[in-house]
Amino acid sequence: MSIRTSLERGAMTTTSRNTKNVLVLGSGGREHAILAKLAASPSIGRLWAAPGNGGTAGIATSVALPIEDGAQVAAFAKENAIDLVVVGPEAPLVAGVADACRAEGIPVFGPSAAAARLEGSKTFAKEVMEAADVPTARWESFTDPEEAIAFAREFEDGCVVKADGLCGGKGVVVASSVEEAEEAIRACFDGAFGEAGAVVVVEERLRGPECSLLSLTDGTTVVALATSQDHKRALEGDLGPNTGGMGVYSPVPVASEADVVAMVEVNERVVAEMARAGNPYVGCLYGGFMLTDDGPKVLEFNCRFGDPETQVVLPRMDCDFVEVLYACATGTLDPQMITWDNGWALSVVLTSAGYPGSYEVGKEITGVEDAEDVEGVTVFHAGTKRGKDGELLTAGGRVLNVTAQAPTFEEARELAYRAADLIHFEGKTLRKDIGHRAMRSKEAWDE
Ligand code: AMP
Ligand code: GLY
Repeated sequence: MSIRTSLERGAMTTTSRNTKNVLVLGSGGREHAILAKLAASPSIGRLWAAPGNGGTAGIATSVALPIEDGAQVAAFAKENAIDLVVVGPEAPLVAGVADACRAEGIPVFGPSAAAARLEGSKTFAKEVMEAADVPTARWESFTDPEEAIAFAREFEDGCVVKADGLCGGKGVVVASSVEEAEEAIRACFDGAFGEAGAVVVVEERLRGPECSLLSLTDGTTVVALATSQDHKRALEGDLGPNTGGMGVYSPVPVASEADVVAMVEVNERVVAEMARAGNPYVGCLYGGFMLTDDGPKVLEFNCRFGDPETQVVLPRMDCDFVEVLYACATGTLDPQMITWDNGWALSVVLTSAGYPGSYEVGKEITGVEDAEDVEGVTVFHAGTKRGKDGELLTAGGRVLNVTAQAPTFEEARELAYRAADLIHFEGKTLRKDIGHRAMRSKEAWDE
């Protein structure tokens, strides 16, 4: 996608009445993938990114908005005749940005603050799961460390300790022993995650492959998207600390047809329960599942598109994306709006050395165009920015997502890695084993 294309699209809007002006909030690889899909829609008018990144400037106008300030976002949307606001990350949703826009009559893709508690509070999410009768790990929620530790002792093989609030993916400890659980519980109550850790959920440790199932919903109709699987650990072999995600593929063959049916039903039941309880859920509901011997069980819900799941799921979708998101925002979603590419997509995340710990930024990046010349490859930018002379620089921990699409899994993987090899920056780090278990059976998963 070149800059010329975006300007031509911008110009087009003044003459066409059927296009929609869209504002996307966020700056990661997920938002670049959303913007790219919107930019490719015949219904796109003007496209804005707040704040966007070094890759989005070619397809959308960047605007420096405080994206967690609903009043400012709504005011900008009104001033610029925005027809649809698409919220990328969870923080603005939990802060009520969707509510502020809706109060001004602006259609928004993303849940209200009340509905975003599905991600913003693990206790709330568990209560909804119970009310909707969907399978999840046995759990309890605590405000007292001694009570939490007493409950953790019931799980001799370890349990999982979760800070209740938003922690950017860092508030979860999978403990292998009671001692480890106790340490995690004390750290949480001692303020390791600030206010987010004032309430702690302790739950049963589940076993099996993980699978994400994202659904789009207008509050009533639910349309499940393709399955995907993230690789959360920093190091090859799924070792090392948790990260925001090091790579991903779609679809997930280890999920049987029955698993997919069960996961779709979970998302549908949760959307129905949210509506029943007076918190209608609009936007993308991200179900994170463990495929256990007893079927899929919910690990978590997120109230927005996954990152990096979006970078493999959206490229496989065939639809007018502007119209689909607008339909979600206006209560008119129809499953027939979306069809699927039968092929595969795999995305490798290139990170700065040191991530998820501390890392340096400002390193020049070369080779992105060469990588995009590889057949089937798209490079989504995450932590990048443009320097004074337009050069591309690293600006974050996760820098680029190299996504390949192909008719087979092997081809998609080969193309993604071939393209990733063509990109250079000081400290470039990547996992070479994304998808290493993709073709394994459930029984052989942990071998
Ligand atoms: P969450 O943010 O709740 O998805 O947790 C982050 C990661 O921790 C998940 O992707 C899983 O790998 C792991 N995890 C969370 N809950 C459990 C559980 N009950 N059993 C085993 N692993 C879990
Ligand atoms: N990929 C995990 C997340 O988006 O939370």
